Amino acid sequence: MTGHDELTDDLRRRKSRSETGGGNERIAAQHAKGKMTARERIDYMLDEDSFMEIDSLVEHRCHDFEMEKNKIPGDGVVCGHGTINGRLIYCFAQDFTVYGGSLGEMHGLKICKILDMAIKTGAPIIGLNDSGGARIQEGVASLGSYAEIFFRNVRASGVIPQISVIMGPCAGGAVYSPAITDFVIMVDKTSHMFITGPEVIKTVTNEEVSFEDLGGANTHASKSGVTHFIAEDDKEALEITKELIGFMPSNNLEKPPTKGTNDPYDRICDSLDSLIPADPGQPYDITDVIEEILDDGAFLEIQGDFAPNIVVGFGRLGGHTVGIVGNQPKFLAGCLDINASIKAARFVRFCDSFNISLVTLVDVPGFLPGASQEWGGIIRHGAKLLYAYAEATVPKLTVITRKAYGGAYDVMSSKHIRGDYNIAWPSAQLAVMGASGAVQIIHRKRIQTAGNPEQERERLVDDYNETFANPYRAAALGYLDDVIQPNETRIVLIKALGALLEKEEIRPARKHGNIPL
Ligand code: HXC
Repeated sequence: MTGHDELTDDLRRRKSRSETGGGNERIAAQHAKGKMTARERIDYMLDEDSFMEIDSLVEHRCHDFEMEKNKIPGDGVVCGHGTINGRLIYCFAQDFTVYGGSLGEMHGLKICKILDMAIKTGAPIIGLNDSGGARIQEGVASLGSYAEIFFRNVRASGVIPQISVIMGPCAGGAVYSPAITDFVIMVDKTSHMFITGPEVIKTVTNEEVSFEDLGGANTHASKSGVTHFIAEDDKEALEITKELIGFMPSNNLEKPPTKGTNDPYDRICDSLDSLIPADPGQPYDITDVIEEILDDGAFLEIQGDFAPNIVVGFGRLGGHTVGIVGNQPKFLAGCLDINASIKAARFVRFCDSFNISLVTLVDVPGFLPGASQEWGGIIRHGAKLLYAYAEATVPKLTVITRKAYGGAYDVMSSKHIRGDYNIAWPSAQLAVMGASGAVQIIHRKRIQTAGNPEQERERLVDDYNETFANPYRAAALGYLDDVIQPNETRIVLIKALGALLEKEEIRPARKHGNIPL
C-alpha cells in the first residue's frame, strides 16, 4: 500500500465512523421508535444530492467521566447546507444515536457555526431537534454553548427565517432555541417539549402528569401555542417544513418568491355573495372566504388548534405570498381574546419582518368580555396586536365582511393604523357596538318610559341599524376605500396588491420599539 492509499483509507475510515454515528444497534432502536436518523431526515428534506456537510470530524474535548475514551466524529449533530426547491438553506440535525443527541460544547459550537453562515449568507436555518438536552458530562461548557446558540437565534430573528422541527425530546432550557425561532413543528407522539419533566413536577408540586399530556405535540398545539404545526410522522414534518419555506424570502432584504398559477386573477367568487347569514348572530366559516379568494384555494393554516377564534396562515394572490389574518365567527363569535391577540400579533410581526403582505378579514364583535380575560391581561395582550399592525410597513389590505365593532375595529388593520387598502362588503357594520347593546345604553330611559317598551326598543334598534349597521358612514368618511360586491373580492385584492408591491414606508429611526410583552 502506498502512502497515498493509507491516507485515503484513513480519511475514509474517519468519515465512515462519523456517518454511522452511535452504531447500528442504536440506529435500529431509532427506527423501532418510528423515527428516522439525522442523516435520513436531512436527505428527505433537501433536494437530491444537494447536501454538503461541514464539521463531520469535530470531536468533543471532555475528559471527565472517561469521556476521552468515547469520541464519535461529528459529536452528535449533522450540520451543513443544501437546497429546497433550488433555494439555499442551512440546517442541523441532532443525532439521537450519539449520547442521546445531547448538546455538549463542540456539538453546540457546530450549530453556532452554521447559524453564523446562514446569517452571513442570508439563507434560512432549519434545526431538526432530537436531543436529551445539555450533555451532563460536559457541565457548564454545555450550558455555555446553549447560550451561544440562543444569542445567535436572537441575532438572526427578523433577518433570516428560522424553523425548528422537534422530532424527539427537547427538554429544559433547550426549548428556548426553538421558542425564539419563527416556526415550530412537532411530530405527534415522538416529540416532547418541557422545561421540567413529569418527575420533577411530581416532586415539587405533587402533580401527576404524563410526558404526552405535559409536553406532547397536541398539548403544545392546543393549550400552550408553542408549536405551530403537528405532523403525523417525521416525513410529514419535513414536508410541512418545505411547504413553509416556499412562502418566505430567504432573508429580510428579499421579497418572497412568486409562484405561477393557472387560477385566473379575475375569477369571480360567486359563493361569497350568499355566505353571510341573514341573522348577524349566526356564524359562518371564515376559511371558506380565505380558500375562495386565494390562488387555487391553497391555504397553509398556522396554529389551527390554538385560539381558533382567529385564523392565520399563508397563501398566494396572483402568485404573491400573502399572510392572512381572519376573525373566525365559528369560535367565540370571532371575539379577540388573549390567545388570539398573541397568536395574530406574532404572525403579523413575522410577515412584516419578511416583506410578506398582509390581508386581514374582519368580522369581530369586540374583545372577549370576562374577569378572567381582564385579570389575564387582555389590555396588554390586545395591545400587542394593535402594536404589531401599527408597526407593520408591508402592504396591508383589509376586508370587512360583517362586524367591525369598538376597539377591535381599530385594531384589525383599520385605515387609522395605516391600512393601505380598506374595503367592506355591503353586509359590513362599522360601529362602536351592536344595535341591541347600543340602544340599551343610550335609550334606556326612553325605553322604560315608553307605552310599549318592547315595541319602542325594536324601533330604536331598527333605527340604529339603519344609521350605523352598514359600511356607508365609514365609506363617506374615507375610512373605507370602497364597498364591493363579495364576489369581486379576489380580483380587487389582486389589483390592489399589485399596486402596493413597491410600497415603501420609512419610520423614525430608533433602537427598537417597546411592544407591550
Ligand atoms: C448525556 C445523555 C443525555 C444527556 C441521554 N443521554 N440524555 N447523555 N447527557 N443529557 C444518553 C443516555 O445515557 C443513553 O446513552 C442515550 O443517550 C439514550 O438515552 P436513553 O435514556 O437510553 O433513551 P430514552 O429511554 O429514549 O430516553 C431519552 C431521554 C432520557 C428521555 C432523553 O435519556 C433522559 O431523560 N435524559 C436526560 C434528559 C435531561 O434531563 N437532560 C437535561 C435537561 S436540562 P447510552 O450510551 O446508554 O445509549 C437541560 C438544560 C439545558 O438540557 C439548558 C440550556 C440553557
